[in-house]
Amino acid sequence: MVRSKSRRKLASQDRRGGSEPPGDDLSKLGDPRHLLGLDGMRRAEIEEILDSAFAFKEVLDRPIKKVPTLRGKMVINLFFEPSTRTRTSFEIAGKLLSADVINFSASASALEKGETLLDTALNLQAMRPDVLVVRSASSGVPHMLARRLECAIVSAGDGWHEHPTQALLDAMSLRERWGSLDGRTVAIVGDIARSRVAGSNIRCLTSLGARVRVCGPRTMIPRNVESLGKVTIHHRIAEALEAADAVMMLRIQKERSSEPIYPSDREYSRLFGLNTMNVELLEKDALILHPGPMNRGIEIEPAVADGPRSIILDQVENGVALRMAVLCRAARSVGASLEAPA
Ligand code: CP
Repeated sequence: MVRSKSRRKLASQDRRGGSEPPGDDLSKLGDPRHLLGLDGMRRAEIEEILDSAFAFKEVLDRPIKKVPTLRGKMVINLFFEPSTRTRTSFEIAGKLLSADVINFSASASALEKGETLLDTALNLQAMRPDVLVVRSASSGVPHMLARRLECAIVSAGDGWHEHPTQALLDAMSLRERWGSLDGRTVAIVGDIARSRVAGSNIRCLTSLGARVRVCGPRTMIPRNVESLGKVTIHHRIAEALEAADAVMMLRIQKERSSEPIYPSDREYSRLFGLNTMNVELLEKDALILHPGPMNRGIEIEPAVADGPRSIILDQVENGVALRMAVLCRAARSVGASLEAPA
C-alpha cells in the first residue's frame, strides 16, 4: 500500500467525489510527454492519437508484429492497483514497439516496508526509464509524479479522476464502426460518480462531437458532472437507452466506497442493468461497450454482453494499438518518432 501525506490528501479529495485535477500545475497537462488525463485536450490532439492508433492496428495484423520504434527506450509499468487489461496491454504495446518493459509489482516492493510512493518513483527514475505508466487508487498521483520526475508519465487510471487511455480506446472502437462520432448519442450507465472511465469518456466523447447521456441512481451521479462536458442526466435506464447509438455499462465501484452504495445487487440489476428486454430500446444497430471488469448478471446480462451488438472484446483488442500510440507520443520527447511505420 502507498503510505504518504500525498496519498492521504489525495484520498480525502476522492471522498469529496470530485473529478477535479487535485491541485495540479495544469501546465503539465499541456506537456506532450505526459498523458495525465483528457481534461483540456483539444479534439485535434485526440484525433491525432486515434489516427496513430489505427496505423498501429495495421501492424498488429502483420505476421511479424514487432516494430523498432522504441528500441533502446525503457518503459516501467508502475501499478499500485490491480489490473488485467490495462497493465497487460501496456506491456504488450511496449514490447511490440521494441521497448524494454519492466513491470513493477507494488505488493512485492519496498512499499510494503514503509517506503513512500514518491520515494519509490524517485528510485525507479534513478534507473533512467523513459516512460512511467502509473495506476493508482488515489486521484492525482500521475500529476504529482509529473511535477516531481523528469521522465514521461502516462496515467493508467487514477482513483475517481481519469482513465485517459480507456476513453481513447473506447473512442477508437466507436470510430472504427461509425467513422465519426459527430452527432451520435452515447449513454453511460452506472456508477458515474466513482468511475474514472466515465470522467475521461465524458470529456472524450463530447470533444469528438457525441451527445452523452449519463444514467444511474442519484447516489451515483456526481454533483459536478455537467462540468466535465455537455451531458444530460437520467435516473431511469429506459430514458437513457431510448434510441441511443451506443451504451457503455459501468460496474458499481464498491472498492471506492466504505459504505454500501446501493441496497442490493439484485435491486440495482432490476433498475439499472442492461438486459435482453431493455436493450431493444436502443437503435437497431447500437453498440454495447463495457470497460471491464464486468460483473455479469449485475450491470449487464451475459446474453447481452456476449451478444452480436457487443464490442467489449474489440475494446480490449484496440487497447494494444491505442497504447502503442500513447507510448510513442510519450517517448517522442526522448527521441522516438510518433509516426507509425508505413
Ligand atoms: N478497464 C480497465 O481499466 O481494466 P483493468 O482494471 O483490468 O485494467
